[in-house]
Amino acid sequence: MVILLAALVLGGLGWLAWRGHGRDTRTGDQPLRLPARPLGGKPIPPERLSGGLIVVSGLTKEYRGSKAVDGLSFAAQPGRVTGFLGPNGAGKTTTLRVLLNLAEATAGTATIGGVRYADLDQPIRRVGAVLETSAAHQGRTGRDHLRIICRASGIPLARADEVLELTGLALAAGRAAGGYSLGMRQRLGVAAALLGDPQVLVLDEPANGLDPEGIRWMRGLLRTLAAHGRTILVSSHLLGEMEQLADDLVIIASGRLVAEGTVASVIGSMADARRTLVRTPQPAELAVALGSGAVVTPAGDGDVYITGVDAVTIGDAAQRAGIAVHQLVTQRPDLEAAFLQLTTERAAIR
Ligand SMILES: Nc1ncnc2c1ncn2[C@@H]1O[C@H](COP(=O)(O)OP(=O)(O)O)[C@@H](O)[C@H]1O
Ligand SMILES: [Mg+2]
Repeated sequence: MVILLAALVLGGLGWLAWRGHGRDTRTGDQPLRLPARPLGGKPIPPERLSGGLIVVSGLTKEYRGSKAVDGLSFAAQPGRVTGFLGPNGAGKTTTLRVLLNLAEATAGTATIGGVRYADLDQPIRRVGAVLETSAAHQGRTGRDHLRIICRASGIPLARADEVLELTGLALAAGRAAGGYSLGMRQRLGVAAALLGDPQVLVLDEPANGLDPEGIRWMRGLLRTLAAHGRTILVSSHLLGEMEQLADDLVIIASGRLVAEGTVASVIGSMADARRTLVRTPQPAELAVALGSGAVVTPAGDGDVYITGVDAVTIGDAAQRAGIAVHQLVTQRPDLEAAFLQLTTERAAIR
């Protein structure tokens, strides 16, 4: 009898745990549709848009004589997702910390709507930030964590449930945050940042620790927020991730600006690394026909890579010179490699 009871209790516990686990994955890592009424949020009225402009100007931050950020200037526009990109140690977190008044600039300024964070009226309603994931008290439920922030900031407590819904945490709201998966902690961080329905959202490497579904969810959320006129500044060390998420890119290395512009223009400039694979029985003659603008290098099996001119130029030149071409393939550059080269070259100049 005792054994039977024990088995029942253990079985019941096991079932509860299994159920809890099932919930965990459902709330933590599945794609989520945004509610029809995102953020209780209306689009930002046009007259308020300029209040969301982020401007970093001549920013330098030294730590014991070494420059983590070195004369950095860039802007992030309202209504756009700006990808703040750079390899580890480039100075991204430091820049964002100065922007959010968590560190003091050695020189230069970082402003939001023309005002330094420290001088903002009701900053929680202007700027939401997700800097690290482990900020919630481990024993506190997700909902309580958010309600405490509401209470401290004069935000109605009901807003906690709105942002829990928005970030897909509604089912986990009553559980201790200590038991959340990394993905759920990221969502809780985003939920906290959205409490004040801010015009500006700053996120430091939010994709870290997220699985592909989580990343897709984050992308959808940030794109929606930007579509409503919000300014989204999001850092990452992965170009591929930013290529899919951002409208604009700011690339830094060793604390300095390397490239800035729309994703298309920045990646387009990297595409100078684009090359054409050519199969011809007369590579030497083709090289002569192309002249000094082209660089011809062996590609194995008698093929050659040609850079410096595009495939149309190569095809036309071959035809004029009566050179047979059996294959002509434009190869998209390995963007991640081009990015690495761009940023390491810059780092080496230092
Ligand atoms: N509190 C600090 N004290 C000393 N050095 C720091 C501190 N924070 C960052 N650094 C240094 O500044 C540089 C930039 O760091 P960080 O801003 O964290 O780069 P990223 O976020 O791009 O990886 C690194 O060399 C780092 O070691
Ligand atoms: Mg960082």
